[in-house]
Amino acid sequence: MRLANKIAIITGGTGNLGSAQVQTFASEGAAVVIADIDSVKGKQIERDTQKKFGNAIFTYLDVTNESSWIELVNKTVKIFGLPTILVQNAGIYRSGTILETDGAKWDSIMSVNAKGVFLGTKIVLPKMISAGGGSIVNISSTAGIIGSKISTAYNPSKAAVRVFTKSTALQHAKDNVRANSIHPGPVESDMLTEVYPEINLKRQRGLEIPLGRFARPIDVCNAALFLASNESSYMTGSELVIDGGLTAQ
Ligand SMILES: NC(=O)c1ccc[n+]([C@@H]2O[C@H](COP(=O)([O-])OP(=O)(O)OC[C@H]3O[C@@H](n4cnc5c(N)ncnc54)[C@H](O)[C@@H]3O)[C@@H](O)[C@H]2O)c1
Repeated sequence: MRLANKIAIITGGTGNLGSAQVQTFASEGAAVVIADIDSVKGKQIERDTQKKFGNAIFTYLDVTNESSWIELVNKTVKIFGLPTILVQNAGIYRSGTILETDGAKWDSIMSVNAKGVFLGTKIVLPKMISAGGGSIVNISSTAGIIGSKISTAYNPSKAAVRVFTKSTALQHAKDNVRANSIHPGPVESDMLTEVYPEINLKRQRGLEIPLGRFARPIDVCNAALFLASNESSYMTGSELVIDGGLTAQ
């Protein structure tokens, strides 16, 4: 049990990667708060996880809304206790070149992917500090490291997460709070279908990846589990790239 006695909040906990993280974290002994805007899927995942591991609740969360975060944290403390792990995984992808992107599209992507991570950190941190420390794992992307021909706002939103994670690490190392980011390349998921609607294009991209395949949700879960656990206790402000060698080229 690599997360025994830990209390974890996982945002975007009903999505492709989030629901896999919920299962992995609960199976490793954490009490898990599944946080998402999708209440229907959330209740289903809550039932499944409780049946298998007995230690998860779903709570509605809109990461862009500060009062929604405050409600989530109060509920977490009341039901499980002080949170010691925060996985900020909620995110949206929208394509569009610079000329195809208007201010509203830019704002909506930045709001969920970047502001959401800032708000979550700000609201959860005081509880984590009271608990004596914790681990924040922010799900960025290889998009946070390189530019894009097709997605104008997504890459800067993920780059914001990358650098904000380092500021979190620097400001709160003294509180025993660690913060690290994860940078997956394309993962087998609905989001990938949105990015590469053409199956042939998907195959072509797959061939460009040195390890010859897209990531699977479990590849990202394993990295999140490691960063959330005490096994990574000397890591803070760092970036874990999980991309089959894509950005090494
Ligand atoms: N799928 C990929 O190929 C890939 C690659 C690199 C990084 N990522 C990142 O991984 C994370 C998870 O991606 P995924 O593929 O599981 O996507 P997904 O769409 O399956 O899951 C995203 C989840 O975020 C939730 N969400 C959206 N807006 C929200 C809001 N305002 N408040 C709370 N929850 C909200 C959605 O309801 C959904 O459950 C995202 O941050 C994404 O950018 C994905």
